[in-house]
Amino acid sequence: MIHHQQDNQPGDLRPLLRPVTLGGLELPNRVVMAPATRCRADPAALTVTGLHAAYYTQRASAGLIVAEGTWVSERAVGDYPSVPGIYTAAQVAAWRRVTGLVHAAGGRIVLQLWHPGTGFGPGPAPAAMTAADLRTAVTDFGTAAARARRAGFDGVEVAANGTYLLAQFLHPRLNRRPDGYGADRGRLLREVTDAVAAAWDGPERVGVRLSPYWTIRDEPRARPQPDGYPYTADEQTLAGYDAAVTALGEARLGYLHLRGPAPAAPSPAGPGGPGGPGGPPDTEAVARYRKLFGGPLVANHGYGPGTGNGLVGAGLADAVSFAALFIANPDLVSRLALGHELSAPDRGTYYRGGRHGYVDYPIWSGR
Ligand SMILES: Cc1cc2nc3c(=O)[nH]c(=O)nc-3n(C[C@H](O)[C@H](O)[C@H](O)COP(=O)(O)O)c2cc1C
Repeated sequence: MIHHQQDNQPGDLRPLLRPVTLGGLELPNRVVMAPATRCRADPAALTVTGLHAAYYTQRASAGLIVAEGTWVSERAVGDYPSVPGIYTAAQVAAWRRVTGLVHAAGGRIVLQLWHPGTGFGPGPAPAAMTAADLRTAVTDFGTAAARARRAGFDGVEVAANGTYLLAQFLHPRLNRRPDGYGADRGRLLREVTDAVAAAWDGPERVGVRLSPYWTIRDEPRARPQPDGYPYTADEQTLAGYDAAVTALGEARLGYLHLRGPAPAAPSPAGPGGPGGPGGPPDTEAVARYRKLFGGPLVANHGYGPGTGNGLVGAGLADAVSFAALFIANPDLVSRLALGHELSAPDRGTYYRGGRHGYVDYPIWSGR
């Protein structure tokens, strides 16, 4: 169990519990469930199942659920097993059941759209993709966004984070293209967000997730790279992100979902989890993007009740997202509201285990 301070007075709604509007999304609280791949889709059809419906419905008290990274097309299936797609009729129908139940339980849910580029890890996508390939990728994102709308989602989040296609294009050492997509490394991301926004009749239900500070520490499945790991948050990388985020700010998106730098010290359960009790997250980084973007900002990475409330209370972010804590605490919002202890996640069941470590985390029962 992780203990946190109960410092609120009765009737004093702490910052994370106040309602907020992110573009076209009205949230009753600012506790966002961060996207988390759990590798539990049907392995052949890549459809979500009744387990997903239960998992997300259990967490419907989140201000907003960002559903796990989901492949935008058959051409864009990466090498994680049992990650769902949104490109077949069966996948759309299966997601519709999830969104319907989340809505029936009073929640809101957006879908994270995933394109892995040329496989996981820092692949050669920027160099290898032809102009036709790029047009296809943009179209695939737009089509997936339209399907997500038909599946009943409240919006979509474009994943430009981690090591996926759009992050590869943003990166100065991976994108050395001699054309316009290299001279302006944010161009592909903007084309994608435009295509996605068109499918939603405007940008207010479209979020973008970025992780400018991604390093090898963030890689869930680090492999040796012949030329070293190219993702580092050096000045050149951050300057590129500054330009990309400034341009995104003009697009009037629903929100920017920033995965900030890893918290200073690893949390007791090891890197990545349980999130919160590690060292304090770097709020200067959040402040930098808040200023550059100008629109609604959701901050992430290592926040807990105290740091999350502090960040929102200081006006540095509109909401905070939690991955590890939402995995382990389906009733995270009421635990935060009432100052109850938080459960720690079991990392061994992050990407496997069927129902175990997925739908069997208990709600708080007073013990
Ligand atoms: C099991 C697991 C799966 C994840 N899958 C995704 C994903 O599908 N898309 C994504 O953008 N981030 C993913 N992440 C990253 C989280 O959204 C988040 O950035 C990270 O866990 C740090 O937040 P936290 O400290 O609240 O856990 C995943 C994290 C975990 C632990």
